[in-house]
Amino acid sequence: MFEQTNRRIFYQRIIQGILGIVTLMVSLPAIVYLFFSGKITQKSNKNWTDVGEISTLKLNEPKELVFQRLHVDGWKNSMVRATAWIVKTEKEMIAFQPRCTHLGCGYHWSQKEKEFVCPCHASSFSVTGEVLKGPAPRSLDRFETRIEGKRLWLGENITSVRESRS
Ligand code: FES
Repeated sequence: MFEQTNRRIFYQRIIQGILGIVTLMVSLPAIVYLFFSGKITQKSNKNWTDVGEISTLKLNEPKELVFQRLHVDGWKNSMVRATAWIVKTEKEMIAFQPRCTHLGCGYHWSQKEKEFVCPCHASSFSVTGEVLKGPAPRSLDRFETRIEGKRLWLGENITSVRESRS
């Protein structure tokens, strides 16, 4: 009788142990997702890119820079060609996304007019990105900027960050 009880307890412990291991295996991915995915996403969002020297930039004379940028798409990371319009003002260094805020056409700087002009529907923007003439609904989108020595680094698209957090 005593030996049968011990055997029953022994088998119950084995079954409980196996159930515990199975429960852990099933819930581990959920635990990793809940507690660590935010940190992984934050790390990949802080994607700073060195876009080059800024000592050649002239005051209020935008220049389009071409550079390679890390593009994160799910689990796939790849380097892609990217551009940005850089403006050195007296107050700050501004980096604009190269797409018009109306329907996304590439715009250019008109040295004659001293404004950014979109060829698709004729929107125009000031040197600091404000809309001068529609149909563009808002100012040009900006990248975060950081200066290290004489080099400019670009971070996230500030407008996208604002939209995704609201
Ligand atoms: S896409 Fe630039 S004005 Fe329409």
